[in-house]
Amino acid sequence: MSVTEQPPPHPGPQGDGHAHDGAAADAAVAQLRDRISADSLTTRRDYLRIVATVSGGLAIGGVGVAAGILHRHGDSEHLPEPKKITDQLAPGQSVAFRFPGEDDRALAVRLGDGSLVGYSAVCTHLACGVLWREDRGADGELYCPCHEGVFDARTGEVTAGPPPRPLPRIFLTEQADGSVWAVATARSGESAKEALCRQFSETRPDEAARLGCPGAGRAGAPERRPT
Ligand code: FES
Repeated sequence: MSVTEQPPPHPGPQGDGHAHDGAAADAAVAQLRDRISADSLTTRRDYLRIVATVSGGLAIGGVGVAAGILHRHGDSEHLPEPKKITDQLAPGQSVAFRFPGEDDRALAVRLGDGSLVGYSAVCTHLACGVLWREDRGADGELYCPCHEGVFDARTGEVTAGPPPRPLPRIFLTEQADGSVWAVATARSGESAKEALCRQFSETRPDEAARLGCPGAGRAGAPERRPT
């Protein structure tokens, strides 16, 4: 999970065009941003609690699809720990990082209007490294030099070349001190809610239920005794 999706003044990774999903995603990331301390790592429990507070309607659409080559972003069945990726990121700049694992190449970009977006940096064609090109297009481009693949910087969608799928989204948030954190990923075609539900379903059924995940709470629901 782009994730991705930032509230003003730095709107985050973009959704798939569904305004409702984007607004809900903004709220979710805002919650995360407010709670992730720049001075100390948020504990996993805190993080899950924050996510769980963002119930009904939480969905970040337009999450890109990994190519299925090697390891894919979003494959984990568990939410990753939030990870600080940079102290500052100015408009037009990018930063490479690894998330959620040390083998997962990723890229964060601050677009010219302040939007913050994050993606897997592994091209969905043949897994070459994707680069940020600020000088190309109105918003800049995510460019794969191997076979001239191009991805939309706001959505991760393929705009040119052979890549068969969009770049997988990495959800980012920004702290008051300007530090940028990666907080989640999603699989191909998953909304944020779908991604969270998948990752909560096995390990945190209570959180899944609070998010309104399909099927959540059925298996473990307490049996009601007749009075
Ligand atoms: Fe990226 Fe071919 S590997 S376009």
